[in-house]
Amino acid sequence: MDGIAELRAKYLAEIGAAAGADALEGVRLAALGKKGEISLMMRELGRMSPEERQQAGPALNGLKDEIDAALRARKAALDDAALDERLKAEWLDVTLPARPRPRGTIHPVSQVTEEMAAIFADMGFAVAEGPQIETDWYNFDALNIAPEHPARQEHDTFFMHRADGDNRPPHVLRTHTSPVQIRALQDQGAPIRVIAPGRVYRMDMDLTHTPMFHQIEGLAIDRDITMANLKWVLEEFFSAYFGQRVKTRFRASHFPFTEPSAEVDIQCSWVGGQLKVGEGNGWMEVLGSGMVHPNVLRAGGIDPDEWQGFAFGMGIDRMAMLKYGIPDLRAFFESDLRWLRHYGFGALEAPSLHAG
Ligand code: DAH
Repeated sequence: MDGIAELRAKYLAEIGAAAGADALEGVRLAALGKKGEISLMMRELGRMSPEERQQAGPALNGLKDEIDAALRARKAALDDAALDERLKAEWLDVTLPARPRPRGTIHPVSQVTEEMAAIFADMGFAVAEGPQIETDWYNFDALNIAPEHPARQEHDTFFMHRADGDNRPPHVLRTHTSPVQIRALQDQGAPIRVIAPGRVYRMDMDLTHTPMFHQIEGLAIDRDITMANLKWVLEEFFSAYFGQRVKTRFRASHFPFTEPSAEVDIQCSWVGGQLKVGEGNGWMEVLGSGMVHPNVLRAGGIDPDEWQGFAFGMGIDRMAMLKYGIPDLRAFFESDLRWLRHYGFGALEAPSLHAG
């Protein structure tokens, strides 16, 4: 049959030219579909004489098989090409770094508190705690602050509301961490070496004061502890904390809970409006301290004829500002995310004696 060679050439060309699965399916239907050209010709075989059929039959079958094979081959080639395209488009670089995840920061107060605890721990001080809502006995009386003492007014105390008929002792938001001295002595007795960092509250709000701030208390009681031990501990502390030798100056002062009492200044300089600790000939007051008053030891259940020692109290927020150059105290407590990201610390910047 003459037509066979032409059909063969025509469909092979169309198969070769089919650019996609749909076009190829069109070619298949036109050739081998129910009403396809080759299918119709095969149906004609029935009407042929046996001689004609003997000739045309194998030729048509051969054509059908050949077109069928060509269709499959083309389909496989098109599928491969499509897969290649997809692989190119969906290519993923697994060596790229992971997308950053939002991460919080450690607040400077938390960081500095940990740093301080690490330094004092190295000198044998354990951490003690007390409640932020205190009875006025722990906050004042036990610390040798009498009811009529002016210090009670100076402290600008927040008193807890009391319902009519409530005759429990008055409660206050603690105005300092000093009441933890009493609680630690009552709990542990002497000898004792503790620090007590925590929140304290005073009715005060201006550029350099917030109604809540942080203090760290220190207490060391034994049989023969003196002011000399206090001076050594504080100088060791400041030097470790600021990462360089820091001179201190002790000025005679007065606190009801210590006798004698001293305010302690650290050496600093003001250069071009910038404060630098550990150099120059300026002084900055950073804490109150002294030898624990016998009445305080008694309130803590300790015999002052047997035991003696020192105490100190220092502002944590101020120490954070000094070390990390943070200018504004009030920003500490505003929870501004930009401030926290800027001044905050990473979770892995663990405080250690060697951190600087
Ligand atoms: N509690 C005092 C205050 O808040 C600070 C202080 C002074 C604490 C002398 C002490 C100390 O332990 O000995 O102002």
